[in-house]
Amino acid sequence: MPTVVVIYDSKTGFTESMAKAVVNGVRDVKGVEGELLKVGTPFSVSRLDKVDAIVLGSPSYYGDVTHEMKAFLETLKDHKETNKLELSGKKGGIFAAYTWDKGWVIDKLQVYMNILGIELVAPPVSALDRMGGSIFHGGKVPLLRIDENSLQKCSELGQVVASNLRG
Ligand SMILES: Cc1cc2nc3c(=O)[nH]c(=O)nc-3n(C[C@H](O)[C@H](O)[C@H](O)COP(=O)(O)O)c2cc1C
Repeated sequence: MPTVVVIYDSKTGFTESMAKAVVNGVRDVKGVEGELLKVGTPFSVSRLDKVDAIVLGSPSYYGDVTHEMKAFLETLKDHKETNKLELSGKKGGIFAAYTWDKGWVIDKLQVYMNILGIELVAPPVSALDRMGGSIFHGGKVPLLRIDENSLQKCSELGQVVASNLRG
């Protein structure tokens, strides 16, 4: 069965709710399997050889993807350069969470997708986290703080990438 893996990082849960909506969108498409993977959890990079599409998601932290996501992407880049893993030709999508920089982190993810030769088959989705950074001020961050519209866009992202694999 064609498989889409949704690889994301999340520190306070916002991007995680996006990632779950993306993978649910994938699973809405009959005949396509969706996997969810948080960077940092035990995982063999060579597993990516077997998947058909890769969707990447990261929050913006200090104007960039998280350190963990960056390390993961650098590993993929290194594997490509040393011919250990070839991802070019696979389909992909990207999503990002932000609070004040309008989602520039999308551009950062896109650069890696280009380097890896993964073809984006759906428009990127970025979602505004109005509560972002409030933990800096001792504020309580509600667990579910993403709006329905953003979740819907994430779900559509998953559906479009998955539909692309059915040919
Ligand atoms: C330490 C810290 C740094 C952040 N840096 C940025 C930033 O550079 N640009 C931005 O737009 N949002 C920034 N944010 C807001 C996060 O991107 C936003 O809260 C996001 O939803 C967090 O995702 P997560 O809950 O999946 O970790 C920052 C938040 C924190 C706590």
